[in-house]
Amino acid sequence: MKDCIIIGVAGGSGSGKTTVANNLVKAFKAEDAVLVEQDAYYRELLNMSIEEKANVNFDHPDSIEFELLRKHLEMLKEGKSIDRPIYDFTTHSRKEGAVRINSSKIIIIEGILIFAVPEIRELLDVKIFVDTDADEMVLRRIERDMNERGRSFESVKNQYLTTVKPMFLEFCEPSKRYADVIIPRGGENKVAIDMIVSNLKGYLNQ
Ligand code: C5P
Repeated sequence: MKDCIIIGVAGGSGSGKTTVANNLVKAFKAEDAVLVEQDAYYRELLNMSIEEKANVNFDHPDSIEFELLRKHLEMLKEGKSIDRPIYDFTTHSRKEGAVRINSSKIIIIEGILIFAVPEIRELLDVKIFVDTDADEMVLRRIERDMNERGRSFESVKNQYLTTVKPMFLEFCEPSKRYADVIIPRGGENKVAIDMIVSNLKGYLNQ
């Protein structure tokens, strides 16, 4: 049996990368695959009101504690367990406690910026980019942010135009060039997901 493999799943917000990553994890036995989300590593914003926090650019690499994410990926690769932070999108801050994640043969990391940041990109053995049309991404984002993240339509619209879209064009979209595999149409692309899963199963059985 080979050592563990780290698979990165990147793509814009609302692209369906979380669905792809979850479907990959589900295709394996629980002890064989784990998921780590870049979103859990948003930095703690100290001495700021909730209104000030809401205006932070959360789509720039500086907003994420990539040092800690890198350390955690290295620990998982060494067979160690990690305590992943818990992030609350409604308050823009970390919650008390952590989620224990044990190492496994397949480690999947998903996030908008994991290919854009060299310190994370260089740890990835397989890079999958989920490529979805911008109109579908923004529609999904509006629905998700209003239903699950306690946002108003006005706030989603302003954030999209001031930070989400410009940062996607500056960091996320150009990082597609680093992908080994590009999945069109997001999480609904069962054919592409099945092909990746069967390839990984072959790898596991080697
Ligand atoms: O799950 P998804 O990849 O969409 O999460 C990333 C998005 O979360 C970013 O586009 C960022 O704008 C958003 N975000 C937010 N509020 C926070 C932290 C991140 O809207 N406090």
